[in-house]
Amino acid sequence: MTPCDLTIIVPTYREAANLPVLVPRITAAVHHVGLDAEILIVDDNSPDDTPDLCRRLAAEFPVRLEVRQSERGLSSAVIHGMRQARGAVLLVMDADLSHPPEKIPELVAALNDPEIDFVIGSRYVPGAATDESWGLFRKLNSRVATWLARPLTRVADPMAGFFALRKTTFASAAPLDPIGYKIGLELIVKGRCRQVREIPIRFADRLHGTSKLTLREQVNYVRHLKRLYEFQFGGWFHLLLFLAVGLAGMGVDLASYAVLLAWLPLAAARGAAIWTAMTFNFWLNRRFTFSAARREPALRQYAAFCLSCLCGAGVNWGLSVGLCRLNSAFDGHRLAAAMLGAVGGAGFNFLLSRSFVFRARTRVGAAAQPQCGVSSPASAELATLPASLGQEPANQVSEAPVRESEPVVS
Ligand code: GDD
Ligand code: MN
Repeated sequence: MTPCDLTIIVPTYREAANLPVLVPRITAAVHHVGLDAEILIVDDNSPDDTPDLCRRLAAEFPVRLEVRQSERGLSSAVIHGMRQARGAVLLVMDADLSHPPEKIPELVAALNDPEIDFVIGSRYVPGAATDESWGLFRKLNSRVATWLARPLTRVADPMAGFFALRKTTFASAAPLDPIGYKIGLELIVKGRCRQVREIPIRFADRLHGTSKLTLREQVNYVRHLKRLYEFQFGGWFHLLLFLAVGLAGMGVDLASYAVLLAWLPLAAARGAAIWTAMTFNFWLNRRFTFSAARREPALRQYAAFCLSCLCGAGVNWGLSVGLCRLNSAFDGHRLAAAMLGAVGGAGFNFLLSRSFVFRARTRVGAAAQPQCGVSSPASAELATLPASLGQEPANQVSEAPVRESEPVVS
């Protein structure tokens, strides 16, 4: 493969109507500044005439087409393109003319500064705009999604699908495992990009066709965020989830107690409420906090969790009572001692849960090593394993020529 300055990766699904407008505009923009660029279209076997169209466009423009026959998905299409790219700089944009091709040179030029690792064509910096037709719901939706990514990155528009980075940043990023649409955010986090430059753009409505961003993609975004939080914050994120579950469990405990008191005598009602809350906590922790172990036998885990709660309660009781007995200062502040007891008990319970109750013994799908960006149920499992178990090779940049079985236009 002969290298070039820039590969513009355009993921497509049913975009045949937009490509004849997009490709000449990209070509004019890059030629204007003398960039040696290729346009790499990664199509997921669209049921339109994308292959024929690309063949015709390739006669006049630097277009290359990669068709994925069986895979679907925006993020994995982008990663596939990055692995096939010839350019030293990789730029990603949508096919639907939402992203102005005329801004490409500015995005690429920002990477001339060696301090900058990532450049975004941003909708949320001064000078930028979104299409006037955006309703309140779409605006709010985009803002909430951005806000949820705040602990991961401070950039104003981490949701953007218009961005550029060096190929070396891609190759040295931690194994990529995105679900859904937010491949830019995945690359910022896993590529450990500290210096991100945002260039204002005007985000237009798509020219032809309809968006593929469905409600399912929004759910995928939350699942993707959880993986990124786990990647960035490790055990601290699990502790936070565990405490949130504990808090919710307290609500369940009190609510069910109030209901059960109408039916049962005091002691039985209190016991049943505690049991209900413990079961509720178990289910949430198995499903979310320690989801890497959710394929382990549930009954064994449940028994171990109840035992661990009992130990936690013991530590709580021991600390609360012991502190008062041993230290007269605490005897005057029994509630403070009880609070320390509760914190100690919860901490103990967390440690037991993490390293004993919800330990993932079997490495689910270990045979299927996740290739960068190909999210499969197996790689989803691996992503939630502790770092020491989840080690995978970094993202390989393919030096091999494009497979012949695929319709290639170059
Ligand atoms: N190969 C491939 N496979 N391409 C896909 C797929 C897929 O499964 N799904 C979508 N695409 C392509 C589309 O053809 C288009 O070129 C681009 O990905 C974006 O898809 P749209 O359906 O136009 O998405 P959008 O406009 O709702 O979302 C865009 O804006 C968001 C911010 O509002 C994207 O750029 C998002 O990444 C971005 O977060
Ligand atoms: Mn779009």
